Amino acid sequence: MQALLQLGLCLILLAAQYAPAGSAVPSSHCRRQCGNVEIPYPFGIDPGCSPGDGFHLDCKVHDGIERPFRSAFEVLDISLKQGTTRVLNFIVGYCYNTSTGSMEYFGRYGGLNEGVSSPYRLSDVQNRFMVIGCNALASISDRDGTGYEGYGAAACRNQSDLVDGSCSGIGCSQTTIPKRMYFYATTFFSTVNNSQIWKFNRCSYAVLMETASFRFSTKYITTNKFNGTNDGRVPVVLDWAVRDIKSCDVAKQNKTGTYACLSSNSKCVNSSNDQGYTCNCTNGYEGNPYLPGGCKDVNECDHNPCPSDGVCRNIAGEYRCSCRVGKKYAKESNTCNPNIGFIIGLTMGLFGLMIIIMISVFWGQMTIQKRKLNKVKQEYFREHGGLLLFDRMRSEKGLAFNVFSEAELRHATDNFDVSRILGKGGHGTVYKGIIKSSMLVAIKRCGIVDERQKKEFGKEMLILSQINHKNVVKLLGCCLEVEVPILVYEFVRNGTLFELIHGRNQALQISFSTLLRIAHEAAEGLSFLHSYASPPIIHGDVKTSNILLDDNYMAKVSDFGASILAPSDKEQFVTMVQGTCGYLDPEYMQTCQLTDKSDVYSFGVILLEILTGQLPLKLEGTEKPRSLSLIFLSAMKENNLEDVLVSQVKGQASMELLRGLADLAKKCLEMCGDNRPSMKDVADELNRLRKLSLHPWVQLEMEMDEENLVGGESTSGYEIELSGYPMGQSENHPINPGSSYYAR
Ligand SMILES: *[C@@H]1O[C@H](CO)[C@@H](O)[C@H](O)[C@H]1NC(C)=O
Ligand SMILES: *[C@@H]1O[C@H](CO)[C@@H](O)[C@H](O)[C@H]1NC(C)=O
Ligand SMILES: *[C@@H]1O[C@H](CO)[C@@H](O)[C@H](O)[C@H]1NC(C)=O
Ligand SMILES: *[C@@H]1O[C@H](CO)[C@@H](O)[C@H](O)[C@H]1NC(C)=O
Ligand SMILES: *[C@@H]1O[C@H](CO)[C@@H](O)[C@H](O)[C@H]1NC(C)=O
Ligand SMILES: *[C@@H]1O[C@H](CO)[C@@H](O)[C@H](O)[C@H]1NC(C)=O
Ligand SMILES: *[C@@H]1O[C@H](CO)[C@@H](O)[C@H](O)[C@H]1NC(C)=O
Repeated sequence: MQALLQLGLCLILLAAQYAPAGSAVPSSHCRRQCGNVEIPYPFGIDPGCSPGDGFHLDCKVHDGIERPFRSAFEVLDISLKQGTTRVLNFIVGYCYNTSTGSMEYFGRYGGLNEGVSSPYRLSDVQNRFMVIGCNALASISDRDGTGYEGYGAAACRNQSDLVDGSCSGIGCSQTTIPKRMYFYATTFFSTVNNSQIWKFNRCSYAVLMETASFRFSTKYITTNKFNGTNDGRVPVVLDWAVRDIKSCDVAKQNKTGTYACLSSNSKCVNSSNDQGYTCNCTNGYEGNPYLPGGCKDVNECDHNPCPSDGVCRNIAGEYRCSCRVGKKYAKESNTCNPNIGFIIGLTMGLFGLMIIIMISVFWGQMTIQKRKLNKVKQEYFREHGGLLLFDRMRSEKGLAFNVFSEAELRHATDNFDVSRILGKGGHGTVYKGIIKSSMLVAIKRCGIVDERQKKEFGKEMLILSQINHKNVVKLLGCCLEVEVPILVYEFVRNGTLFELIHGRNQALQISFSTLLRIAHEAAEGLSFLHSYASPPIIHGDVKTSNILLDDNYMAKVSDFGASILAPSDKEQFVTMVQGTCGYLDPEYMQTCQLTDKSDVYSFGVILLEILTGQLPLKLEGTEKPRSLSLIFLSAMKENNLEDVLVSQVKGQASMELLRGLADLAKKCLEMCGDNRPSMKDVADELNRLRKLSLHPWVQLEMEMDEENLVGGESTSGYEIELSGYPMGQSENHPINPGSSYYAR
């Protein structure tokens, strides 16, 4: 026994094709509202306001209110985003008539049938086929369309079996449907004639409806009434789409005229239910993708998607979140997290800053220390007359003069090693040094200095640094930044004239012409000093031990070590009177006025030493020391010159030459300085005498002798002694520190 009732709604829509009128955007006269329901394009209620009849709706007054209808189905709302429309569907009831004992159908139709070309499909996702009752069996079928036929069965023994909200077979069942359905029919099947059940549940119900809108209630059973929300109607969801184009791919290929997604920032979406497509605004845009310019940028910041402690910034199609300083936006968790990088960076930055500060402080300390050291060095420098020198160096450009550092000189002398000592004198110690890796120099380092001596170094340097003559020892540089001033001299290696004349090896046959040449060269050197500057540079301590000899036995005047500038105040003037006994200008002894003629006098004594081979002061036994000059002068007076001449000399030179030399010496030894020749005259006269001596036979002899000397290993066993170099002070030679006066 089965009662079959098939109910279907056949709305045959002939012009369902989606056909927007080219670029013709729906007129602004089209109503977009029907009652409370918004009607967005492509839907329309006025003629020509929708692309094809499929999207046409009727706006009818129902119960006094305007409502849109799609045929018999009232439209609740339209979603462009989801491509769905909710309409009210009709519930079908099936009841037992106790008076007649038969079953009867109630309610309206059970489906929607608009054909395959209709935009609408029954949503398989959002709808269920609901069957309510304690003795109910109903089917949903689409035999002509998809061929689907489903069943819903609901049963219960008595009311106590029923549970509110539970729709899983007891008093209520729900059944899913397949896709692509646009129509269905509902049929109830007759069940067992159960009088027990009819007592409390006579009616069964069946409807395809929106799952979300349904909640089972036991009352539906006990009161025999399930009439939905709107007089036997419940919402059902329809998926709509542009169906005449199969998919987005096809639609995009053939955009001419019929492509529905007219808005920029819109995209085509394949329909999820049957063929066709819908349009959607791309992410970050919302609006109507079916209208040109319909998709509008969403101001996401309106509903602040960012963390509460963040800041939102809207940009086209999207938005940006940022967090305050020190925090970093984490997109995954949408939170403002402590910015490790920033913190690390900040920490590193602070750390770096700290290091910089520490380095600065360290540098500061270093600089202060350095300054202190420099101050000490500058103090020494000043004490040692360095400022004077530098003033001079500044005013006289191109001075070939070096200022050495202490370290350089320590290195040059092997840290002032004893083995490097060339000689020791009253003023200090002279070391052999090597600078610039190969250059030999003599480095004079003062021992103990008193205030006066300290000044003398600066002065000596000042004088020497200016002088460049082959017969004057060259000062290469100095170092004033130490307590003890250090001077760097040209290295002159062959001892002094003193050693040559009075040297240990008296047997040495030193050629007279060599001595004459040395005397001439020394005279040239002194002459140069006198003429070099105005006022003249006065040596002040001319003596044989201050005439050094280089490799070729060329004379080099040395020892400006005790030189000072002529003092301006008289008191100092007097105390400064010093020289070497035996060489001292007698006029100077009386006047305390050192002149260039004082040097000439001293040079005269040198000539005497050459002629006589005697020391300037003869110390014979207990006798009073006798001055060589006095002996000589008295001999000259008595015409006894030959008696005083040294024997070797007599053999080597003509008497004429010797007499000339003796005359020159005599002139030099004049008591009155004004009567003495100038140093230039002396040099010229010596030059003349040398030429006189250069007769062929004399020259030959001389050259032979010189060869012996130059050869170094002389057959005569000449010994080179470098004591006192370049101070020129031999232990066996009593001398006072001399003084040069830079006369004004
Ligand atoms: C359209 O896009 C929105 C988000 O912008 C999304 O929620 C919705 O599901 C999309 N619709 C379809 C049919 O894909
Ligand atoms: C039962 O059927 C009778 C006769 O057709 C009818 O008059 C009556 O109204 C029905 N009862 C119900 C509850 O429908
Ligand atoms: C159901 O049973 C009752 C009696 O129990 C009877 O009167 C009635 O006709 C039956 N109805 C049907 C449809 O068989
Ligand atoms: C629901 O109620 C309406 C009137 O209130 C009625 O016309 C309709 O038949 C009822 N439907 C069902 C299934 O009971
Ligand atoms: C419901 O049926 C069960 C089992 O037949 C029974 O035990 C129970 O008492 C019944 N409840 C009511 C209210 O009839
Ligand atoms: C493109 O659309 C036109 C008109 O709608 C149609 O005639 C044509 O067949 C379509 N072409 C393709 C490739 O779908
Ligand atoms: C849309 O559907 C067509 C055909 O069904 C398919 O080839 C295409 O990949 C789909 N496109 C998207 C974006 O899913």
